Amino acid sequence: MNAANKGILIAIEGIDGTGKSTQVGLLARYLRGKGCEVIETREPTGGPYGRRIRELFVDRGSCTLEEELNLFIEDRRQHVREVIAPALERGLIVLTDRYYFSTAAYQGAAGMNPAEVFARNSFAPRPDLVILLTMSPEISLVRIRESRGEELNDFEQEDQLRRVAELFSSFDDPCIRSIDADASLEHVAREIQKAVDRLLLDNNYVCTGRRTV
Ligand code: TYD
Repeated sequence: MNAANKGILIAIEGIDGTGKSTQVGLLARYLRGKGCEVIETREPTGGPYGRRIRELFVDRGSCTLEEELNLFIEDRRQHVREVIAPALERGLIVLTDRYYFSTAAYQGAAGMNPAEVFARNSFAPRPDLVILLTMSPEISLVRIRESRGEELNDFEQEDQLRRVAELFSSFDDPCIRSIDADASLEHVAREIQKAVDRLLLDNNYVCTGRRTV
């Protein structure tokens, strides 16, 4: 378990279109079924910095790369202070859809130095586990366009996504567990559950809450 935390912090990362949000929901349901108390959260958040970031989805060029990085970091600072740290302090399991690995990969792909991005995130609690959902950018783009019925946002342009995917797979932090997301939803969910069960066991984390599912 994270030395400073009583709870467990799990981040789900990966390029757009890998099904992160769906898998966060499925994992939360699985854990609640085991009697765990779970907080589901995401970045960018719905707070003021997150709202400004969402404006950039359609107009990324309206600020400098440094300003963009600052927005993601300030959004995370508030997220950690108001949501993540209090939940960990209460001993809960926190599932976050994206965390600072996304900043290192996306802002890294845009030209920032990933090592510096990691260093600027040292205020954020280290996750106990990072589930990195992997997929070829080509397939992810098809998924974004077809399944989500959405146009690509300014963070999702093809050559960018390719660089983001490369950076994600270059991170060698021991808390990262890569899972191939180009399989059925159920298969991916089971692989995630196995990794999380192992984590809870290794940390002697026992879910004692009432079963809610
Ligand atoms: P995403 O999770 O796709 O949000 P939504 O489901 O609302 O579209 O994240 C939005 C985009 O923000 C995504 O393309 C990746 C990008 N992003 C960064 O560039 N840096 C970061 O630190 C984070 C958290 C996200």
